[in-house]
Amino acid sequence: MTTHFKPNSVAGRDVASQLHSQTNPTRLEENGPLIVTRGEGIRVFDDSGKSYIDAMAGLWCASLGFNNQRLAAAANRQYGELGFYHTFFNRTHAPATDLAEKLLQLTGMEGGKTYFATSGSEANETMVKLAWIYHTVRGKPTKRKVIARDRAFHGSTIAAASMCGLTFMHREFGLPIAGFLHTLCPDPYRNMLPGESEEQFAQRLADELEKLILREGADTIAAFIAEPINAGGGIIVPPASYFAKIERVLKKYDILCLGDEIVCGFGRTGNWFGKETVGMQPDMMALAKGLSSSYFPISAVVMAGEIYEAVKTFNKQGGSLGHGFTNSGHPVGVAVSLEAIKIYEEMNIVDHVRQMGKRLRGHFDHLAGLFPIIGDVRGEGLMLGIEIVADRDTRVPFDPALEAGPTFDRIAYENGLIGRCMGDTLGFSPPLIVTESDIDEIAERCETSLKQLQKALAA
Ligand SMILES: Cc1ncc(COP(=O)(O)O)c(C=O)c1O
Repeated sequence: MTTHFKPNSVAGRDVASQLHSQTNPTRLEENGPLIVTRGEGIRVFDDSGKSYIDAMAGLWCASLGFNNQRLAAAANRQYGELGFYHTFFNRTHAPATDLAEKLLQLTGMEGGKTYFATSGSEANETMVKLAWIYHTVRGKPTKRKVIARDRAFHGSTIAAASMCGLTFMHREFGLPIAGFLHTLCPDPYRNMLPGESEEQFAQRLADELEKLILREGADTIAAFIAEPINAGGGIIVPPASYFAKIERVLKKYDILCLGDEIVCGFGRTGNWFGKETVGMQPDMMALAKGLSSSYFPISAVVMAGEIYEAVKTFNKQGGSLGHGFTNSGHPVGVAVSLEAIKIYEEMNIVDHVRQMGKRLRGHFDHLAGLFPIIGDVRGEGLMLGIEIVADRDTRVPFDPALEAGPTFDRIAYENGLIGRCMGDTLGFSPPLIVTESDIDEIAERCETSLKQLQKALAA
C-alpha cells in the first residue's frame, strides 16, 4: 500500500479503504482520488477549493446541478412526514401513486403501469424479467434471449452487464452469460460502408438483426434492448430510419422492444424522452438518473398495458409477482422525483435544452473548423460528442498507446472542465440548467484544452 498521502488524510484513508467503480486500482493508489467537497449549480469544488464545471452532470444525471435547494427541501419535507415505507404486499403512499401516474402521462404510456426500482441496472433487468412473463403467458416460454447492441451500456448487475456491448464490462467476469446476444452498433461515423447512404446503412442493420434472429430461432428471442441515443458507447445517434426498420423486424418475430431511457429521458436529447428524438416505440422504458436528477437512487420501468396484463394473468391463481426491491417506490425518492419533474416543467426543459444544445453544438462545429484532430461532432440536445482522430480525411483513429482521449480528460480537468472520454470520443452532457454564459465557458475551456492536447499529441 502506498504511503505518500498525508497520514489520516481523506485521500490516504480512501485509498486504503474504498474500492471504486470503473477506476484503475494502481492509478488510484498512485494519484489518489479527486475529493469533491461541495456543489454550486453546474460547478463542483475540490478540497483545495478549486472549482470545476462538471460538463457531464456527474454521470449524465445531475440535471438540476449539484445543490438544488428545492430538491433538498422536498427530501426534507418527505423525511419529516414518512421517511420510509415499502410498496410490497399491497402497500403504497400518495407520493408513489402520484409519480406512477405522472410517469405514465409523460411517457405516453397511459393504460400501462409504472414499476419502481432503485438503479438503472435494476430497471433494465426488471424489463427482461417482465418480457419473460409476457411471452410465457402467451404460450411462448422458450422466448428467453435478449439482443442488445455492440458498444451498448445497460448497467453492472449480471444480466445488465451482459446486455452491455463493451469488452471492459465483460472481461473480468466471463460475461455475457448465455442468452444475451449482440447485434451491430448503428454508428454512422464508424460503421457506414463507403458509398452507403444512411438509409442503406439502416437497412443493413435491420437485415443483420433479422439474420441473427433467424440463426438463433425467433422462438428463442424475447426482447431487443436499446438506448435511443447510445451514451456510454460514445454518443451514437442512429440513422433517421433505424428504429422504424428495426421495429418492423421485431414485430415480424414477436420480439419486445425495450427502451433504455436512463440517460436520454427527462429532456436530455431536446425532447422529454429520447424515443421522440429518434422515432422509437418501445413496449417498456427504463428511467433513472434525470428522474430525480440523481438526488436519490430511484429508477422506474414504465410498461404498456399488455405487459401488466401478462403479470396479472400469470398470477390469476393467487400468486404474487416474485420481484421487488426493499426501496422500490421509496417515499423520499418519489418526492424528490416529483419535485424534479415540476422544476423541468416550470423551466420548460425541452425548449431550454434545445436552445442550449444548439449553442453548444454551434461552438463545437466552430472548433471542428479550427482543429484538424476533430473528426466528428455529433449528438442531440445537451448530449454531444466530439470524436478526435489522427487523420480526418481517412478517419484513422489515434494509436491507442497515445491515450488521446484520457489525455484530453486530464488537460481539461487541469483547466477546470470535467468531461468524459469514451475511447477517443469526448462527451459533454452538462446539467440541463446551464445558461448561455455557462455554455460559452464550457466551449472556451474545451478550446484551450484542445489546443494543449494538439500540442501534446504533436510532441
Ligand atoms: C444507458 C444506461 N443504462 C443503464 C445504466 C445503469 O444505471 P445504474 O448505474 O443506476 O445501475 C447506465 C449508467 O450509467 C446507463 O448510462
